[in-house]
Amino acid sequence: MRLKKIVLAYSGGLDTSVILKWLIEKYQCPVIAFCADLGQKENWDEIKEKGIKCGAEKIIIRDLREEFVKDYVYFAIKAGAIYENWYMLGTALARPLIAKEQVKIARDEEADALAHGATGKGNDQVRFELTYTALAPDLKIIAPWREWEFKGRTDLIEYAKKQGIPVPVTLEKPYSIDANLFHISYEGGILEDLWQEPPEDMFIMTVSPEKAPDKPEYIEIEFEKGEPVSINGEKLNPVELLSKLNEIGGKHGIGRVDMVENRFVGLKSRGIYETPGGTILHIAHRALEQITLDREVMRIKDTLMPKVSELIYYGFWYSPEFQSLKNFIEKTQEKVSGIIRLKLYKGNVFVAGRKSPYSLYKKELASFDEKEGYNPKDAEGFIRLQGLRLKIYNIS
Ligand code: ARG
Repeated sequence: MRLKKIVLAYSGGLDTSVILKWLIEKYQCPVIAFCADLGQKENWDEIKEKGIKCGAEKIIIRDLREEFVKDYVYFAIKAGAIYENWYMLGTALARPLIAKEQVKIARDEEADALAHGATGKGNDQVRFELTYTALAPDLKIIAPWREWEFKGRTDLIEYAKKQGIPVPVTLEKPYSIDANLFHISYEGGILEDLWQEPPEDMFIMTVSPEKAPDKPEYIEIEFEKGEPVSINGEKLNPVELLSKLNEIGGKHGIGRVDMVENRFVGLKSRGIYETPGGTILHIAHRALEQITLDREVMRIKDTLMPKVSELIYYGFWYSPEFQSLKNFIEKTQEKVSGIIRLKLYKGNVFVAGRKSPYSLYKKELASFDEKEGYNPKDAEGFIRLQGLRLKIYNIS
């Protein structure tokens, strides 16, 4: 099959550099390397150089940090989306955005194929390709890891050396990393042994709780319609705000998770995550929902949370069912505005204060002093009728 041009989602790592070279060789057409800057700390000049050296016709680096935090991370916070109750979805949230931008570039550059470097065993291949299919069903998809004859890293390194692709001289880390502004994830290699605790020097965003300060730190986060807008009274844009929370949370050893999760493809896998700012945001946001959400809205929202998380994890961001749920979640956030005060201490986030102009918590009603609007006498009939069917059920 003859292709005109391919756009590759390029990270600058060994895998996608080999892929770049391999695509050019195999398909004999120009390849554009696209890097998404999602806040991972990279030397972009170096990556640019490497991509050109590997034969890319062009390197396109796009700063997607603002969109990533605002439209994807903040949505996850509003939804309370946490996969299998532990994973804050940092990698899963990034994929649809990368793939969407890649499609845009393919259109601008009149390319007819899209390629990615995800392996054949993981979730990311599904996430990339479902997004490609939803947004550009006419473009051909190339997944080199499922196509080529290389079996693993050793084969890759050998090919890289033969092709003159720079192989890092420093010994590669004995696990795989995926990083962005929201989180860093680690999996594979030495982490595949479930009995092995992760090495302390692996962590990048957080100190261990043992090494965190002995004194707690108080912070205040203000939310508007479910989205954080300021820290300690200082208005910050999404990128600044999340960066700052990562720094504060990291210092206090907040947001480490070590879990075994169910991949979409049917395997169980062990993943280690650092999500310092995200952990703080999830807790603060929930504390605010506790006073601003109506009980029944909260119930429905909570039953949807596992589904929303699953759809994000599986890669169905651009699906009709996810977009419908998204509308519902956004609607629930209209009055989730207010300020949450938190105490951060050795890996923990404690809620130290809540306030909101829309608070449904009415001190006068909740307290024991009798006030208009709630008459304890009403409770008698309420309980009697609630119990009616229990009585009938148990007599007959
Ligand atoms: N298990 C996570 C997910 O499926 C992270 C995958 C990528 N992580 C990595 N270290 N390569 O979303």
